Amino acid sequence: MISRRDFVRNSAVAGLCFLPKFSRLAFAQGVDAHIEVVLDDIIGTISPNIFGHFVENLSGVVYDGIWVGEDSKVPNVHGIRKELVDEMSKINPAVVRFPGGCFADSYDWRDGIGPADKRPRRTNFWNGGETADAPASHRYDPNRFGTNEFAQFCRLIGAQPYLAANLRSLPAEAFYRWVEYCNSPAGSTTLADERGTAGFKDPFNVKYWGVGNESWGCGGNFTPQEYATEFRRFVTWVPEYGQKLAFIASGPDGANWAWTHGFLEEIVRKGKGMLSSIYGLALHHYAWNLSRGRTQDWNEGKGDALKFDPVDWYELLREGDRMEQLIQGHWQVMSEQDPGHTIKLVVDEWGPWYRPGSEATPGDQLEQIPTLRDAVFSGMTMDIFNRHPEKVTMANCAQLINCLNSLYLAHENRFVVTPVGHVFAMYAAHQGGEGVRTEFSAPAIHYDRDGKAASFWGLRGSASLHGKQLVVTAVNPNVKDPLQAQIVTRGARVNSGKATILTAPDIHAHNTFDQKRAVAPQEKDVQFKGESVSFTFPAASVTKLQLNLA
Ligand code: AHR
Repeated sequence: MISRRDFVRNSAVAGLCFLPKFSRLAFAQGVDAHIEVVLDDIIGTISPNIFGHFVENLSGVVYDGIWVGEDSKVPNVHGIRKELVDEMSKINPAVVRFPGGCFADSYDWRDGIGPADKRPRRTNFWNGGETADAPASHRYDPNRFGTNEFAQFCRLIGAQPYLAANLRSLPAEAFYRWVEYCNSPAGSTTLADERGTAGFKDPFNVKYWGVGNESWGCGGNFTPQEYATEFRRFVTWVPEYGQKLAFIASGPDGANWAWTHGFLEEIVRKGKGMLSSIYGLALHHYAWNLSRGRTQDWNEGKGDALKFDPVDWYELLREGDRMEQLIQGHWQVMSEQDPGHTIKLVVDEWGPWYRPGSEATPGDQLEQIPTLRDAVFSGMTMDIFNRHPEKVTMANCAQLINCLNSLYLAHENRFVVTPVGHVFAMYAAHQGGEGVRTEFSAPAIHYDRDGKAASFWGLRGSASLHGKQLVVTAVNPNVKDPLQAQIVTRGARVNSGKATILTAPDIHAHNTFDQKRAVAPQEKDVQFKGESVSFTFPAASVTKLQLNLA
């Protein structure tokens, strides 16, 4: 049972100050937690793009995961894995980023067009991390899956393409030509003809273009000032073909405030007008350090995807929860040069990153098996994005399949939806809704961090309004205790509703090729009526409530 001290402490930790309001609303006694949805306080439209995806030409992501080939025994549509297309079509995937990641700054898009048998084989950027017996397509890019195939994939699943251009190793001219290949009208240019010959007469109309990736690291080791200079050059006078282009600049790694500051300071040296050339600033944040403060070493600090204790569960969530401060912090830094916030945040890589060892297909680089922990992590992260719709315009989970926080795992003819995939299916209900201010209050969870007391919040989530339907998602991160919460919808009564719950008896639960539904969402009709309803969030769970308002 919540003590008053815990309740006050957690409210304060959350930066909330609403005890007087709660007392005015006369919340019921005896419940553990409170959720207050302030229906007339709209915080912004939730862009469908914040539930976006990321596909890099890395190990088993493209070759095996997505591309199986037209002649494969694996059911496919134009060479693309059919089960993947079918599953993705269910989650309304608004946008997919390709071809990297670090790979993007080594990629020449021209290698991936034209007759398939004429396309060159190139050493993949990730070759150095592949084992000697890795499939040839993982080590040496056959370029079978290029721009046309990616555009085809996007069409099949109903998503918009987001292409990441090479700024480190190709000139700006190559970038313009890629735009020309994708967007110039049928019959207008030689490249449009080449596209037509390949069977794609109509332009792809690609709107989103990344200009380099992680330019502070694998994308060229630039200083923010050097990168800003390159960025200005790359985006100046890029030809448009009736499709307004949205340029996404390589942004900071985690809490690197100096990158955001230095980049924008240099950008505006040529005048404030330059700000309008930037649609988004890409923020990357991976949760990887589970060493409990012992090390900052990238390899030593990582934990295991499948073998972990409750303390590792909370530590991972803590690392991921930093996302909210990163969004707020970079937004603040951006306002120094861009007080009107012309530029939005694009979190185009996020997710947990564990050490090697849990690959569904042994040998696949950066592949890990997502568990219930990663589902809770993903729900928590998407709730953070939902709480900042005016700041975050796009986000792309790293990555879609066979890599890091995968929604799907696949190998040859085997395929499975991971717990993360299920969370994406649940959260699709938020897309395009009006984000509504919602306050969560619950006792903090206390745990032992190597002999020292540590705590984590007890319940958080987000809400969006879709006409008369209110969608509330929430995460109970407590590994053992359910949490009863009273939900107050200020401004309207609830007539009816249903709940979708994702949890499992074991926090390590995960889906495999043989056991596909160890973690799967359960739907439940709930007796909701009135302006105040009660719901019990199971331990270690992600929940979606769809409430029909009177
Ligand atoms: O997602 C894997 C890698 O992580 C990407 O290629 C890179 O951008 C990041 O460092």
